[in-house]
Amino acid sequence: MFPPGFVLGTVTSAYPVEGAVDEDGRGASIWDVFAREPGRVVDGSTGAVAADHYHRVDEDLDLLRGLGARGYRFSISWPRVIPGGRGGRGGQGGVNQAGLDFYDRVVDRLCEAGIAPMATLYHNDLPQALQDDGGWLNPATVDAFADYATVVGERLSDRVAQWVPINEPNAAMMLGYGLGTQAPGYELYFDALHACHHALLGHGRAAAALRATGAKEIGCANNHAPMWPASDDPADVGASKLFDALWNGMWLEPMLLGRYPADLQPLVEEIVQPGDLADIRAPLDFYGVNYYSPMRVQAAPEGSPAPFEVLDLLGYPRTDRGWTIVPDALREWLITFRARFRAALPPIVITESGASYRAEPGPDGVVDDPERIAYLQAHLRAVATAIQRGVDVRGYYVWSLLDAFEWTEGLTQRYGLVHVDFETLERTPKRSYEWYRSVIAAQPPHA
Ligand code: NOJ
Repeated sequence: MFPPGFVLGTVTSAYPVEGAVDEDGRGASIWDVFAREPGRVVDGSTGAVAADHYHRVDEDLDLLRGLGARGYRFSISWPRVIPGGRGGRGGQGGVNQAGLDFYDRVVDRLCEAGIAPMATLYHNDLPQALQDDGGWLNPATVDAFADYATVVGERLSDRVAQWVPINEPNAAMMLGYGLGTQAPGYELYFDALHACHHALLGHGRAAAALRATGAKEIGCANNHAPMWPASDDPADVGASKLFDALWNGMWLEPMLLGRYPADLQPLVEEIVQPGDLADIRAPLDFYGVNYYSPMRVQAAPEGSPAPFEVLDLLGYPRTDRGWTIVPDALREWLITFRARFRAALPPIVITESGASYRAEPGPDGVVDDPERIAYLQAHLRAVATAIQRGVDVRGYYVWSLLDAFEWTEGLTQRYGLVHVDFETLERTPKRSYEWYRSVIAAQPPHA
């Protein structure tokens, strides 16, 4: 289905899988704190144990090898590497060698197995010590992040194939600082633009820091959602356009073109400092897209703190989480993206795609999840069609290798190709794992 060399892989992220939050010198992250606040996580769970990956890493990497995955995207926990968040540069002082050693071993094992490591530096888990000083609202966090990138890059750049500085900065900043539904839980609405800008700057400065350590390929993993106005009413069309600028344009335009979308320029002009946009537009070797669903947007009633509301899409099938399944929207988004950005666009990688279905082991021990297979099949086909239509897509990473702690959904959503029993921590590859293995086996490995 794909050109030779296309990378079929899978993903995890540190806080959702690792557990071991107090071990080997790890510091606290904002998710340790947020998840413990009553009412933040639907089932009251935290990532304290999660999938216990920190202790079961060998078993999990064997599962990855058994899958035949050609690439593995994982994230590095900043508070495991620099528990206090700061003091990283030069590798002395604040660096926790045990934390770095863990990821060093992961990368070595991946390389031994012929699996290309893709490392994300930041996936929602800011060291709490930095949050105490304002987190991403404070420009000092940008410097601390670049120092952390230097520390990790100096240790791993020789072997990591691809780097992502920040996973889904739009979700992390807009939900974390704008709406307050994710850590750190601030409801600042448009004042969250300070955090957004600093995250963009963090992306650019960390990319430069990684490059200086000899990093091979640097990209991003931005969540993109096609925006569909709820009606033809100009108010809904306008609200959808504004939300599109905030969710999509605010991230891809600065990263690719070095400018904010025109609609947002008046909102950020007092935040942006001279030189910032040039730093944000760090050269990228690939552009990572995390895709789940389109969003339907309508104008909010007069007096609401935000001028838009995101509604359910009607008339489409849904995953067990209630997210709508629209693979064609991924195909169309990729085609339009390429048409809009052409020469400014590096090769694309689908850095996340997947679905939550709550399949459990049957009496025979088999975890049968045909819906996930159908979901992945349809999205792989959408990507293959986009490639036939001229879009340069180089890889597809399934979210996720393992069932894990799903942020505010706690342990209630299961995205894994491998089932995890959260009581016994036993792993059971699902039918979708077997299916994906056969898809990967049929894919020619080299260009
Ligand atoms: C995207 C995020 O990167 C990841 O953290 C999350 O778990 C998945 N979406 C599923 O919601």
